[in-house]
Amino acid sequence: MVETAIEDVYARKVFDSRGNPTIEVDVVTVDGFGRASAPSGASTGRHEVVAFPKGGVDDAVRIVNEDVAERIIGMDALDQAAVDFMLHEVDGTENFSRIGGAAALAVSMATAKAAASSFDMPLFQYIGGLFATQLPYPLGNVIGGGRHAGDKTPNIQELLVIPVGAKTYAEAVDACFKVHREAGKIIGASNHGFAGGRGDEGAWAANLSDEEAILTLVKACDKVESDIGCRIVIGIDVAASSLWRDDKGGYWLRREGKLRGREEHINFMLEIVDKYDVRYLEDPLHEDDFEGFSELVKAVGHKVLVCGDDLFTTNPARIAKGIEVAAANAVIIKPNQVGTLSDAYEAVKASRRGGLTPVISHRSGETEDAFISHLAVGLRCPIIKTGILGGERMSKHNELLRIEESLENVKAMAELPIHLRR
Ligand code: PGA
Ligand code: ZN
Repeated sequence: MVETAIEDVYARKVFDSRGNPTIEVDVVTVDGFGRASAPSGASTGRHEVVAFPKGGVDDAVRIVNEDVAERIIGMDALDQAAVDFMLHEVDGTENFSRIGGAAALAVSMATAKAAASSFDMPLFQYIGGLFATQLPYPLGNVIGGGRHAGDKTPNIQELLVIPVGAKTYAEAVDACFKVHREAGKIIGASNHGFAGGRGDEGAWAANLSDEEAILTLVKACDKVESDIGCRIVIGIDVAASSLWRDDKGGYWLRREGKLRGREEHINFMLEIVDKYDVRYLEDPLHEDDFEGFSELVKAVGHKVLVCGDDLFTTNPARIAKGIEVAAANAVIIKPNQVGTLSDAYEAVKASRRGGLTPVISHRSGETEDAFISHLAVGLRCPIIKTGILGGERMSKHNELLRIEESLENVKAMAELPIHLRR
């Protein structure tokens, strides 16, 4: 008989890929052990839960060790819903502002890991069961801008690729590395000031305009496609909430030092989608412009994945609103935006109910924890957005390679939405 009762919960302070402190939690069951840490964003949405309590990470660690632990010890690690419910109850606020969403998520994830470990079961199988055998496609950023890179970089936060023609995860991630390398060469050849700098997620940080960056990406993809024969499509995450100036009613373009009005911005999005065959468009507009998103979906939703990140913040109620007004056809799922695995799962269910594609995602500030790799396979999400280079990104890719290997002859790549298959 496997014993899954939680015997101990212990939190400590660790550091993320930006060198900022975050929280890591160990959960011990009689027969198992789970350790998980929380990531953090730089372009966080207004509707996310609060990451840390007023006293910061030290306070979060203290609260877990002093308050949360005693409530969770003795509970069954198999009962994820009950543990997550307890986290909400101990917190007692709408947005995890007392204990912090980071603390809640670390406890929630460590509980799932401890449960899986109690049965000596891979985490993705514990999450998804017998038929969780499909690998997601990586969606990774090659060139960075916005809040993830310096002043002279593009306004668009992330210029991304998806190797849609890959037959395995190994092939897919290799294509991403090749595009990244090729883009670096192209930038180096035309940009004399370029010293090979990279931003928060390992993407190139270069002095390029938005269109120059997209063109660089298109060229790099063309070269790699013809070298290895794997179809690669491009996408962008505008992270438009970071550009939006409420007082001025427009999008502030830091590079150009000018304000772009809403209509002009929507037209610019439509123009680049057509001109460069952009297939994935994340947060093209600011986080409360559901109407603008709907306009974009009406215009290009048949051929482009219009994805909400800050728009939805992994929040089922916001996703339901988005479905009602057809504001998107894809949703970024970032567990730390809501604070528990159960809440993230509710968001995935809500997305699917409305026919939206869930995209499991990292944050710009990451740790070595590869939980999201298991989550993507376990929840059968067709896309994982987890960057390309950097140890904290690589831990997710390498874990997916291990999962792919362990699935031997039952493995397959996930079914992509039609927008990415053309
Ligand atoms: P963040 O950005 O993790 O810095 O919030 C990632 C994204 O916008 O997708
Ligand atoms: Zn985003």
